[in-house]
Amino acid sequence: MAIREIVLYPSEVLREKAKEVEVFDDELQKLLDDMVETMRHAKGAGLAGNQVGVPLRVIVVDFGALEGKEDIKFFINPEIVSEEGERKDTEGCLSFPQIFVEVKRPKKIKVRALDREGKPFEIVGEDFLSKALSHEIDHLNGVLMIDHLSPLKRELTKKRIKKMIKEGQWDDPYPQK
Ligand code: NI
Repeated sequence: MAIREIVLYPSEVLREKAKEVEVFDDELQKLLDDMVETMRHAKGAGLAGNQVGVPLRVIVVDFGALEGKEDIKFFINPEIVSEEGERKDTEGCLSFPQIFVEVKRPKKIKVRALDREGKPFEIVGEDFLSKALSHEIDHLNGVLMIDHLSPLKRELTKKRIKKMIKEGQWDDPYPQK
């Protein structure tokens, strides 16, 4: 396993619509293992392919993140089957170091996907898990958390990010040594 570099906003690949996975080969397994290690290293709860510069429809989510006991789930070619309710919560993203915003997400979400062996499954996530799944699936469609903000808040957040980048606060946010 290897830690890969996390792509930061405003990198182009974060805006790409990721492609479906068609082959479940060793390369895919390596990508998934690397994504887990990369997410762990950066202390994140979820990571999408685009975020390591691979625009493939793959996400990893730590279902145990809230309880602090790791429970990694892999979603290949995930699809949202249904969404219910609404819930506003603070969220962050490894591609936006030190930025936290309030975003409305579905309270409950049902997702259909393939596991890392290509076997289909369905899962229901509520609250934190619904937020995480919605956020990560957004990534595969080139959608970022700041896109969910009001135009005013989005502009303010973008300004803040610009300033942070200029000040070097986004240089190597997840050092490997
Ligand atoms: Ni993210």
